[in-house]
Amino acid sequence: MKDKIEEIKKEFREKISGVKNLNDVNELKVNYLGKKGAISELTTYLKELPNEEKKDFGKLLNELKTEVSSVIEEKIKSYEELALNEKLKNESIDVTLPGTKIKSGAPHILEKIIEDIEDVFMSMGYDVVDGPEIEEDKYNFEMLNIPKGHPARDAQDTFYLSGDEILLRSQTSPVQIRTMLSKGGKEPVRMICPGKTYRRDDDDATHSHQFVQIEGLLVDKAVSLSDLKGTFEVLAKHLFGSHTEIRLRPSYYQFTEPSVELDISCFKCKGEGCSLCKNTGWITVCGAGIVHPNVLRNCGYDPSIWTGFAFGFGAERLAMLKYGIGDLRVFYQTDLREVDAFDRREQEND
Ligand code: DAH
Repeated sequence: MKDKIEEIKKEFREKISGVKNLNDVNELKVNYLGKKGAISELTTYLKELPNEEKKDFGKLLNELKTEVSSVIEEKIKSYEELALNEKLKNESIDVTLPGTKIKSGAPHILEKIIEDIEDVFMSMGYDVVDGPEIEEDKYNFEMLNIPKGHPARDAQDTFYLSGDEILLRSQTSPVQIRTMLSKGGKEPVRMICPGKTYRRDDDDATHSHQFVQIEGLLVDKAVSLSDLKGTFEVLAKHLFGSHTEIRLRPSYYQFTEPSVELDISCFKCKGEGCSLCKNTGWITVCGAGIVHPNVLRNCGYDPSIWTGFAFGFGAERLAMLKYGIGDLRVFYQTDLREVDAFDRREQEND
């Protein structure tokens, strides 16, 4: 009996020294300590022994059991520790490594320039107002001094929605009319209105059937062209740098008299002449003028008391100039590479 126990002990010691992983140990555990394991078998056998042998044999068997189970538990523990350390090693985070940049959204470059322009005008006391994109002919044309059949209408090839009364506004100038009407001819007005406008243009690098105009209107007493010039100087210097100069050239619009074209000195060549300014040193950015007395009258303002200036410009054109963008269509394509390029250009500009 003793020999049998010694044999098992020896065999166990050999086997346990050869285990390679936790599975091997668990297998040994089943083989030695499991219900049908070697030690359990001996325990069953012990019950059949005569009482005088039971004591010695029981003691030896107990010693064997204690050794086997403690060695096995120790081995299991050490393998578990090893596995845990390995896991911790793999999961450890090097906090000094540079993080992965998460792409985040940002306002569109066109939106940014509109907000920038709004801020400049708000700082001068202007309200930012909104108007309908589906407009009536009378606001889009008639009350702006452009009666039916007037040739000026041809220049704004308009989308009519029903008959010849309802249209997609071809300019933001109708918002001038709506704003003045809302004041009842009694109060001064200072407003800008950025908004979408529509014309039946074929889309190319410099034309689009939909574009953003920013309309502006100031009505008060004794307003002159020099007020317009001063106001635009503030905007131009803010957008294109403090060296930027302004000049006015005569022009013609039905809703202003006199009408002007507003040029800024070329911010690229500083007036020397380059491809951007077509060697003139100047870039046209805006149509403007002194509000026509007929327009004031149409909106209930007495032109012998009130005067005003108005202006309208394309937001895309300003953004193209400011960020050196050659094709207007990129503003309306959902190409994230272009958006990234806008961001890069803006950082370069800053
Ligand atoms: N509405 C004009 C256009 O679309 C732009 C414009 C010119 C607006 C002169 C004005 C202005 O208010 O005074 O071409």
